[in-house]
Amino acid sequence: MTAGPRSTAPLDRSRGSLVLGIPRDDGARVSASILLLLLSLAGFGAGAKDQFTLVRPSVAGEQQLWVSGKHIGSVDAFRIPLITATPRGTLLAFSEARKLSEYDLGAKFIALRRSTDQGDTWSPTEFIIDDGETPDGLNLGAVVSDAETGMVFLFYALCAHYTGCQVASTMLVWTKDDGLTWSKPQNLSLDIGTEVFAPGPGSGIQKQWEPRKGRLIVCGHGSLERDGVYCLLSDDHGASWHYGDGITGIPYGQPKKDQDFSPDECQPYELPDGSVVINTRNQNNYHCHCRMILRSYDACDTLRPRDVTFDTELVDPVVAAGALVTNSGIVFFSNPAHQYLRLNLTLRWSFSNGTSWQNERLQLWPGPSGYSSLAVLEDTMRGTQQAPQLYILYEKGQHRYTESISLIRVNIYRKP
Ligand SMILES: *[C@@H]1O[C@H](CO)[C@@H](O)[C@H](O)[C@H]1NC(C)=O
Ligand SMILES: *[C@@H]1O[C@H](CO)[C@@H](O)[C@H](O)[C@H]1NC(C)=O
Ligand SMILES: *[C@@H]1O[C@H](CO)[C@@H](O)[C@H](O)[C@H]1NC(C)=O
Repeated sequence: MTAGPRSTAPLDRSRGSLVLGIPRDDGARVSASILLLLLSLAGFGAGAKDQFTLVRPSVAGEQQLWVSGKHIGSVDAFRIPLITATPRGTLLAFSEARKLSEYDLGAKFIALRRSTDQGDTWSPTEFIIDDGETPDGLNLGAVVSDAETGMVFLFYALCAHYTGCQVASTMLVWTKDDGLTWSKPQNLSLDIGTEVFAPGPGSGIQKQWEPRKGRLIVCGHGSLERDGVYCLLSDDHGASWHYGDGITGIPYGQPKKDQDFSPDECQPYELPDGSVVINTRNQNNYHCHCRMILRSYDACDTLRPRDVTFDTELVDPVVAAGALVTNSGIVFFSNPAHQYLRLNLTLRWSFSNGTSWQNERLQLWPGPSGYSSLAVLEDTMRGTQQAPQLYILYEKGQHRYTESISLIRVNIYRKP
């Protein structure tokens, strides 16, 4: 059986540099400048509340980044979207390129596309990692940047299902040039052990406030032998990593039944009080068909059962969701907002650190939709004068959510 293209070189350059672009709009730029002026008059800090009154998320455009069905590098299916904005303001979009089938098992590439113009245009798909023909290949993953060094780290797992292999590995690659070139894969399991750690999927964070300002945090979940949610921590800009104490499932280390406690795929973000919220997939619908919320007050050194809550407003069909907080303190959340079905991808936002959500919401796609990942480009992150935009990379289809991975850009503030 052929495993498809083996080269890590870009494979679809012939498709041109841009598949579906959003034309630049000078009118939009002008009103963006006026908006920025208004925002600066409202004043950061002093006027956080005034700024919230200007928040009115609206879709600015959508582009398909990957289409399943052997159109790109004869890849069968693209799944597990990750998007991040680097400290220099480059957008990096990743996905699993599943070579032979759409299943979690099997051989894969990690696909990457980059944008250096705030998402207007994207580089052709590049396969930055190739796991060969392994029966239980790589699984994404989490991406995190260090604002001080500009380095971007990408984590993935190998042999996470013990299918045709005996030892799981946690792997790490990094880039110093916003994704143009990548390090060789480093086997972190040499340092942290070989228990299964499925990072994210989504983004890690760097602590902006004490405690442990500057710490890099990447959260993920284990399998039965190391059941629950754990975070990998680095206090030396990614040179070394160690686990914090996680929160285990109940019953621990045993197969779960419906409504057992089983925290799973997860997305952290930091609140302005320095605590970390981990918005988590509630695998067995413990307590509700909704998101499980973990919170750590010690920068993820520990996750305690007493700090677990359930957000009944964030109804969820058991899926990986997107969550982040902007510099101005808006918490955003994306998921297919349905109790049972992966459809109706919806954006929610909160002005109260995620303790409540605005009634208004933005329906992004009514049809089949699965995993989603969020990134934001804010003025403080780059030199350009442009209004802050939110990026939602998600699994989207007409009939099934595995058909494509699509990017939606959202203007956070209303047009003046
Ligand atoms: C990573 O290191 C562990 C521990 O030494 C080892 O068992 C495993 O085979 C290594 N994985 C890879 C992909 O080299
Ligand atoms: C989809 O979301 C919209 C807006 O949030 C909501 O009004 C609608 O009832 C939802 N549809 C389904 C089928 O859940
Ligand atoms: C959010 O948290 C910050 C820091 O603790 C606090 O100052 C602010 O009042 C909170 N916002 C709301 C609406 O509770």
